[in-house]
Amino acid sequence: MGKNIVILGSQWGDEGKGKIVDLLTERVQGVVRFQGGHNAGHTLVVDGKKTVLHLLPSGILHPGVSCMIGNGVVLSLAELQKEITLLEDSGVAVRSQLKISGACPLLMPYHVALDLARETKRGMRLIGTTGRGIGPAYEDKVARRSIRFADLLDVDHFSELLKENLEYHNFMLKNYFMTSTFDYAAVYEETLTLGNNLLSMIADVPQLIATHRRRGDSLLFEGAQGTFLDIDHGTYPYVTSSNTTAGGACTGSGLGPRYINYILGITKAYTTRVGSGPFPTELIGPLGDALVELGQEFGATTGRRRRCGWFDAVAMRRASEINSLSGLCITKLDVLDTFDTIQIAVAYEEGRQTIDGRTPIKPIYEEMPGWKTSIVGIDSWSKLPEKAKAYVKRIENLLEVPVAMVSTGPDRRNTIELAPIF
Ligand code: IMP
Repeated sequence: MGKNIVILGSQWGDEGKGKIVDLLTERVQGVVRFQGGHNAGHTLVVDGKKTVLHLLPSGILHPGVSCMIGNGVVLSLAELQKEITLLEDSGVAVRSQLKISGACPLLMPYHVALDLARETKRGMRLIGTTGRGIGPAYEDKVARRSIRFADLLDVDHFSELLKENLEYHNFMLKNYFMTSTFDYAAVYEETLTLGNNLLSMIADVPQLIATHRRRGDSLLFEGAQGTFLDIDHGTYPYVTSSNTTAGGACTGSGLGPRYINYILGITKAYTTRVGSGPFPTELIGPLGDALVELGQEFGATTGRRRRCGWFDAVAMRRASEINSLSGLCITKLDVLDTFDTIQIAVAYEEGRQTIDGRTPIKPIYEEMPGWKTSIVGIDSWSKLPEKAKAYVKRIENLLEVPVAMVSTGPDRRNTIELAPIF
């Protein structure tokens, strides 16, 4: 029988989901993206050439693997076209592998302008978004005014929707944000041209998922961002605008909740976050700088320096609960190779369990000895130094979730598999 595996970030994104999805894709027939948009960044290497994917499911580089973009994704046609062209130029047959839900809300050029204008207006209180228009695109979805991918099939209907949307958004851009507006004819032309090139890939994704299930195929549901960027369960308002947690895999794709077989939470061996917002274990100073350097902590989408800190077991316990994690994958363990001691936040002062964003939080740390030797590329548990094993085991005990995988380097082979996922 096939398995439906959800892979998601259990911190603030950038946990290294891409590598794991890529690795596990060899064992499945399909990969589904279910939320977010081109704010995500997934670095891949094609024939020695580095490619950063933002919208396409990572399975796209595995010939024959069906790739689906679910309704939970906000779709920028221009960005999708760019990614497809890039891959086609490298010889990847994207079009035969990719299916896109007609229910995807389109991320339009005015969403980007609104995102940027809003961030400017927030001044010091800015969210630190990726500036890709993600928030405004989801706002339109919830406000029930989105133009969805399938709306492009009926040109008159699309034209009407676009007029309504532009009337509203241009008013806001001009009168509230005092910035430039969008010309109807130009947006109409651009969207239809892109749409005509992409509409051949439109599909009923819930139906495709059901067909795969009946056939006994296995599918991966590929999350973007991470648990604490979830619009409902994250560090609001410093979050993204979608449900990054496990439930989002169902609502964002049409997979029935009972059909999930395994939920793999990806976590770094420490913590990072990009953009503003609370981060209890953040290290400001030489230790934080060391993590940035050693972990090469710069965003794949915006190139921004990531904020770094120790592993936060309190936050991770919450992540494990909300997502009902079946197993953990600890990535970038090798980044801690040179530290004399390593800290883990095991509690917050005053017994607090959550990060509310208003009150500063003081973590209570437990210290563990570093292993002080390179573990880069180690691919079996028995070869790990005892102190590194102890660190992994301590995380497992604190979270009460089995560690299924440990990643010790960027290459696929630099992975230790401890427990079966399929
Ligand atoms: P937005 O998703 O562009 O609206 O940004 C909202 C918040 O989510 C900001 O703090 C971003 O830095 C963060 N964010 C969005 N996408 C990613 C990602 O792929 N990795 C890490 N952080 C992200």
